[in-house]
Amino acid sequence: MKQVIYRNLTSRILSLGFVLLLTLSTSLIAQEGDPANGKSLFNTNCAACHKLDKDMTGPKLRNIEARLADEQGLDREWLSAWIRNSSALIKSGDAYANKVFKEWNNVPMTPFATLTDQDISDILAYTAVDPCELNPQSSPDCPGYIAPPTEGGGSEGGISDDLILGALALLFALLAMALILVKRTLDRFAEAKGIEISEDEQRKPLWKAFVENQFLVLVTAIFFLLTSGYFAYGYFMQVGVDQGYEPVQPIHYSHRIHAGDNGIDCKYCHSSARVSKTSGIPSLNVCMNCHKSISEVAPSTLAEGKEFGVDYNAEIQKLYEAVGWDGKTFTGNAKPVKWIRVHNLPDFAYFNHSQHVSVAGIECQTCHGPVEEMEIMYQHAPLTMGWCINCHRETDVKVKDNGYYTKIHEELSKKYGVEKLTAAQMGGLECGKCHY
Ligand code: HEC
Ligand code: HEC
Ligand code: HEC
Ligand code: HEC
Ligand code: HEC
Ligand code: HEC
Repeated sequence: MKQVIYRNLTSRILSLGFVLLLTLSTSLIAQEGDPANGKSLFNTNCAACHKLDKDMTGPKLRNIEARLADEQGLDREWLSAWIRNSSALIKSGDAYANKVFKEWNNVPMTPFATLTDQDISDILAYTAVDPCELNPQSSPDCPGYIAPPTEGGGSEGGISDDLILGALALLFALLAMALILVKRTLDRFAEAKGIEISEDEQRKPLWKAFVENQFLVLVTAIFFLLTSGYFAYGYFMQVGVDQGYEPVQPIHYSHRIHAGDNGIDCKYCHSSARVSKTSGIPSLNVCMNCHKSISEVAPSTLAEGKEFGVDYNAEIQKLYEAVGWDGKTFTGNAKPVKWIRVHNLPDFAYFNHSQHVSVAGIECQTCHGPVEEMEIMYQHAPLTMGWCINCHRETDVKVKDNGYYTKIHEELSKKYGVEKLTAAQMGGLECGKCHY
């Protein structure tokens, strides 16, 4: 335990150090561009076709500015012209523009006419950041990389069932030993006092002695009743709880690849989470924003898919069949995909996404788990009433910068005599709030 705390502490201190270092070093060169803003611009505009360290639809872009300057003598002005409208640059007869275009099989890059100079400089700053500086855990080669603990987590903290069972077994063993010792001493006493124990009595098998002892029988019966009650309770409490539910979907769609590797924002696809009761599943048109130009995944991604037993390219073909896309136009021959619903509360319970995502500012991952690592979507939380209620008891309402709450907050915090208010104190335990 101590070791784990210590390890956590050192990793915290180390990462703090790196953040400081990063802010220091970027503030020195930073008039240039803001890599953090660059990252989000990159993810929304470029990530569909480019990765930093891997060729995809377009070439890898790590250190692109320095690379083009060193190898081709091209400057920022050329880069801006390319990014804003590569086709125009190609038409103008620019030698290098024509060369890459040909090398990449004449696939045109989307023009980004609306990006400002600052935007472009931010994006380029992001492509120039050393990945180890951003996150020392990003690769085992980074200085400051701390290998994850290899055995049994430890981070969960709770006592494992195995440990409890082990302790119980030990206790029983000790009891049995104590009983044997007591019997021996009694025998010796009897011998010393000259009390005769009949042959019969001595040879009586253990089970017979046990059955004759009513007290022991009673204790055992109670013990069995209690344990079976415990397991039955455990069994009935999880009826209707679908934690871990992971249905096979009609198209193998990987959140790990989209939200994780390619950093696509959840709200790009689940756009209504912020403003309405439901998050919604995106229509296939949203997919086609990118997949008109992405018909195949990168070779290395394809290899990853093999490990999961999926042919990613065949899955993209399924998408094309579903929207009726023949590679050039929509044929009008669409067969909507029937996604299988993973999370589903019973009809008598009311849950609202915008209340939690926008008003309370809770991250999607708090309730849905590490979605960006999920190859296949599964239900992370139990979604029981107890789960909702616990969080309402423990979570403070975000009142800061929230005009709607300032007055209610003042009144209620006076009533409860506390600074902070939990969702429960705001009425989050009232049956009617969650039940129609
Ligand atoms: C629709 C796919 C697509 C998108 C989106 C896209 N690119 Fe490209 N990009 C390409 C392709 C393909 C090439 C290779 C040249 C060609 O075929 O036009 C390329 C080439 C480049 C090059 C030249 C690389 C080299 O090695 O010479 C740069 C720089 C570049 N893109 C930057 C960006 C930036 C920055 C963004 C986002 C603002 C972006 N691209 C968005 C497809 C895309
Ligand atoms: C490119 C589009 C896209 C992005 C980005 C995306 N999702 Fe999804 N999401 C989907 C699709 C399609 C499904 C339905 C298929 C499935 O369940 O895997 C889905 C399903 C889900 C579900 C399960 C819905 C149900 O049936 O109960 C949750 C929860 C979810 N996404 C959360 C997230 C979160 C959190 C993020 C951001 C980290 C995210 N998604 C990013 C497209 C996307
Ligand atoms: C406070 C917990 C919580 C948070 C935060 C949360 N969700 Fe959910 N989500 C749920 C519950 C509960 C359901 C089941 C709702 C139902 O069945 O009515 C659900 C269902 C979904 C679904 C299935 C379709 C639907 O709308 O019912 C998607 C997709 C989804 N969530 C995505 C997201 C995304 C994306 C975010 C972040 C922007 C997010 N969720 C944040 C608890 C949460
Ligand atoms: C913002 C761009 C973008 C959107 C939107 C998008 N994708 Fe993708 N998708 C990608 C990229 C990029 C890859 C390939 C990554 C690689 O080659 O490493 C990919 C790969 C895939 C694959 C193969 C890997 C896998 O997940 O099984 C499938 C299938 C797929 N997408 C389906 C979808 C569906 C369905 C939707 C809509 C719900 C969608 N995509 C929306 C960018 C996008
Ligand atoms: C991760 C913590 C968390 C979980 C899990 C959670 N909630 Fe909440 N919920 C909150 C917070 C925080 C608020 C207060 C939001 C605000 O400021 O209005 C809230 C508010 C609400 C409200 C409005 C209460 C009011 O006083 O108006 C309802 C209804 C609600 N939640 C239902 C649910 C249901 C149903 C579930 C389970 C399916 C659930 N919540 C799970 C954190 C959570
Ligand atoms: C924060 C939201 C919330 C509040 C407040 C709440 N419930 Fe629930 N309740 C739920 C959810 C969600 C379920 C569905 C749980 C499931 O499907 O396992 C549920 C299920 C139930 C059930 C069905 C039995 C079960 O466990 O499935 C009953 C009965 C019930 N609630 C009664 C109440 C009563 C009475 C109150 C007021 C004291 C109350 N609830 C307050 C969210 C809430």
